[in-house]
Amino acid sequence: MNRGGILSKLIIRKLEKRHLPRALKLVREGYEEEKKKIPFLPEYQELAQGLQTNIKDLAEKGEGFVALEDVDMIGFLAGYPVKQLFGSCRGVYVPLFGHGTQKNNRQEIYRELYTHAAEKWVEGGMFSHALTFFAHDRETIDTWFWLGFGLRCVDSIRKTEEIEVSPSGLEVKKGKFSDLPMLASLHHNHRIYYRKSPVFMLKNFEDPLEDLEEWLSGENHHFWYALDEGAPVGYLQVEPAGETFISRHPSVMNITGAFVADNIRGKGVGLALLARAQKWLKKEGYPLCGVDFESINITGSKFWNRYFTPYTFSLVRRIDERVGREKENA
Ligand SMILES: CC(C)(COP(=O)(O)OP(=O)(O)OC[C@H]1O[C@@H](n2cnc3c(N)ncnc32)[C@H](O)[C@@H]1OP(=O)(O)O)[C@@H](O)C(=O)NCCC(=O)NCCS
Repeated sequence: MNRGGILSKLIIRKLEKRHLPRALKLVREGYEEEKKKIPFLPEYQELAQGLQTNIKDLAEKGEGFVALEDVDMIGFLAGYPVKQLFGSCRGVYVPLFGHGTQKNNRQEIYRELYTHAAEKWVEGGMFSHALTFFAHDRETIDTWFWLGFGLRCVDSIRKTEEIEVSPSGLEVKKGKFSDLPMLASLHHNHRIYYRKSPVFMLKNFEDPLEDLEEWLSGENHHFWYALDEGAPVGYLQVEPAGETFISRHPSVMNITGAFVADNIRGKGVGLALLARAQKWLKKEGYPLCGVDFESINITGSKFWNRYFTPYTFSLVRRIDERVGREKENA
């Protein structure tokens, strides 16, 4: 590897419309690599059109840069500005389709792109940076780990398959609107759970029942709940879209919420809910099931990692905002 060589030739420019076909090709190569590790992911061709729209939108609304070696575009990095990203400060979110490089000199290219992009982002007051990567691309993830990033969110997937559960005396039902009031208190506790250590995350709703009702009004939204001696002890929510472009493929349905009362965790309630949802998804003809979760949520991570395979990791970095003030005063 000729490190000095590539760096001396690299030019960073703003991402423009004319760069988009090459950007799409780099994203495609990343996807194909991930698909080698998880062969049941959807075919690229079925995602291509949506991706094209996504990248175009990102280039229009986002902040993006390309790495050029002479006239060849060998990498790009583009993110959406976010008003509040994991806190009250402004930030940038780079989605799965917002970056890519050629295979050779990947580390050097990403480092140069980030050095340039971060300078502009920080100048623009964006101190919180988050990026999503394919989970099996260890070289890229390591590169960003060395750039100060740490794991925060995971998207995982599984083939929809029935799961054997031993009889537990639980009653698991598919829910309807009139069942929601009895789940309001569990939903409230779900929010409290996220606020606590080590997750420390705010869920944006005031009234749990209103939140559940609004959610269930969404198209093709479904939930299941478990009763233990007639009392609700857990629920699980499923809907067509998760956090990634892959989750929005029509073959995928996504678990977007699950909660079991803390005094009954570890006794198979979560599994009974998951098993029931899998049975329904299979019957309805959805071959894939996705889920996204915070890696910092210990009970959730443990549970999903047992039944699902991660295909993305999202990493975050929070920059000391005093650097911005110092620049202003300089
Ligand atoms: C994640 C969550 C929904 C799982 O529900 P749960 O009822 O605790 O899950 P289960 O009991 O089916 O499985 C949990 C563990 O108990 C074990 N278990 C399952 N059935 C069991 C049984 N009958 N007896 C004893 N242990 C059992 C499982 O093997 C599993 O083991 P593990 O911890 O080594 O992975 C629950 O922990 C929860 O509500 N967490 C807080 C909210 C949350 O994280 N939600 C997910 C958001 S993304």
